Amino acid sequence: MPDSLSPPRVTPSYLCAKKAQGQKIAALTAYDCPTARLLDRAGIDIALVGDSVGTNVLGYRSEQQVTVEDIAHHTRAVRRGVERALVLADLPFLSYRSVEAALLNAGRLIQEGGADGVKLEGGTLVLPQTEAMVRAGIPVMGHLGFTPQSHGRDLYAFSKRRGTVARVQGRDAAQARLLLDEARRLQEAGVFGLVLEMVAEEAAQLVSEALEIPTIGIGAGRRCDGQVLIVHDLLGFSGVELRLAKVYARLGEEAARALSAYREEVEQGAFPGEENVFHMEPGEFARLREQLAAEN
Ligand code: KIV
Repeated sequence: MPDSLSPPRVTPSYLCAKKAQGQKIAALTAYDCPTARLLDRAGIDIALVGDSVGTNVLGYRSEQQVTVEDIAHHTRAVRRGVERALVLADLPFLSYRSVEAALLNAGRLIQEGGADGVKLEGGTLVLPQTEAMVRAGIPVMGHLGFTPQSHGRDLYAFSKRRGTVARVQGRDAAQARLLLDEARRLQEAGVFGLVLEMVAEEAAQLVSEALEIPTIGIGAGRRCDGQVLIVHDLLGFSGVELRLAKVYARLGEEAARALSAYREEVEQGAFPGEENVFHMEPGEFARLREQLAAEN
């Protein structure tokens, strides 16, 4: 939970200070106002409106179908539910293919969506965009390792097909070195934090130790400066169990039970019950009946 030194609103510099003090950062995705409110009350530091909204909420096949409009819409909802957490909006696929596009779309997510910062995937290829956004005063988080937008398929479909979580990055020395170099370049470009997705624990530790900015891991082991999960996985809504996630509640099963119970009660006439109905004033029904009978 936030301590007495925690600011009323989480800022990028507070997150860097947490790393410096050896305090872990807890982040979660959020796509709607009530979930964002719960997450905020639980003291989560970052509410990430990830492009995972596409597969988790919108029924899309992959992250590549998510638009800036989608992210802006969900960011507005999350913003309304959050008082303390930093609201981070994902720049979706193709929305930062040039410096101009990145500035325009990040600006929209901040001004129209109410985001506190944006996240984009990639290393060297997105350095010009990253530098331009940082120069414009936009807080930017990087994302390395498994990058669903450029892999062109969602992790869930992939893992279901293979029965295992695939695409772990940084398993050998050359790959881990590449990851470290890319991470350093992003830090140099001014990102305030870095998501590491599906990275071998040792490689993620190396990167975390080398950077001043915090690393936020998902499937990147225990040595990152913070962790992020997809809220639907944590709450047991997505129906898939991934090695990288932990299911803290099984709300999907609970919801399915509740929906069936409702249907059965409606069909049996058990719902609504006396406690769910509204009545006319005493005597009014009888009076109306008499009036109607007299008219016939
Ligand atoms: O879109 C998303 O949810 C993400 C997380 C996996 C970090 O980018």
